[in-house]
Amino acid sequence: MDTLILIDAVNAVPKDYLPELVPVEGIFLERSAARECLRMLAAAETEGITIKPMSGYRSSDYQNSLWERDIAEHMSDGLSYDEAVRLTSRYLAKPFHSEHETGLAVDLCTPECDDAVLTFAGTEQGRWLSANAHRFGFILRYPRMKEHITGIAYEPWHYRYVGSPHSDIMKNSGLTLEEYLYYYK
Ligand code: DAL
Ligand code: ZN
Repeated sequence: MDTLILIDAVNAVPKDYLPELVPVEGIFLERSAARECLRMLAAAETEGITIKPMSGYRSSDYQNSLWERDIAEHMSDGLSYDEAVRLTSRYLAKPFHSEHETGLAVDLCTPECDDAVLTFAGTEQGRWLSANAHRFGFILRYPRMKEHITGIAYEPWHYRYVGSPHSDIMKNSGLTLEEYLYYYK
């Protein structure tokens, strides 16, 4: 398992990629990501902070349905197809290009929340994850002000498993996965 696999608008999930999926509180993640995610949620819980997994592994069919749904919504708001694709691409990966299709990405939220919202960053769950996720091999994959590098707008809920010590180095240096792969690999 290459935990540093780069999946983005250019790099698709390899066709022969078959993660071993394990359940984590209602979602599925790749085996090592699942183990560390469970450790992370338990560690937060010992500090009185309950974090809810909202989305983990997605099949390409499911990613495609999200993609088509959002494009259709934007077009019904009056955008052209091209405008709708451009807007959707800022926060949703097109099918075959989502980290969620690898089982290495997890969207996290508060127990009350059932959607990805920017205000998650200011919640105790969002702040705890931002400070601690790297200890469990996870990175905030789409940080603020890095859209020109990652291709995706700020997503305070989307954590990507890369494993240690990569996660510690990225956290301490502030590098995105793209930058880390460029400088260190
Ligand atoms: N929201 C992230 C970019 C995804 O769809 O994989
Ligand atoms: Zn996500």
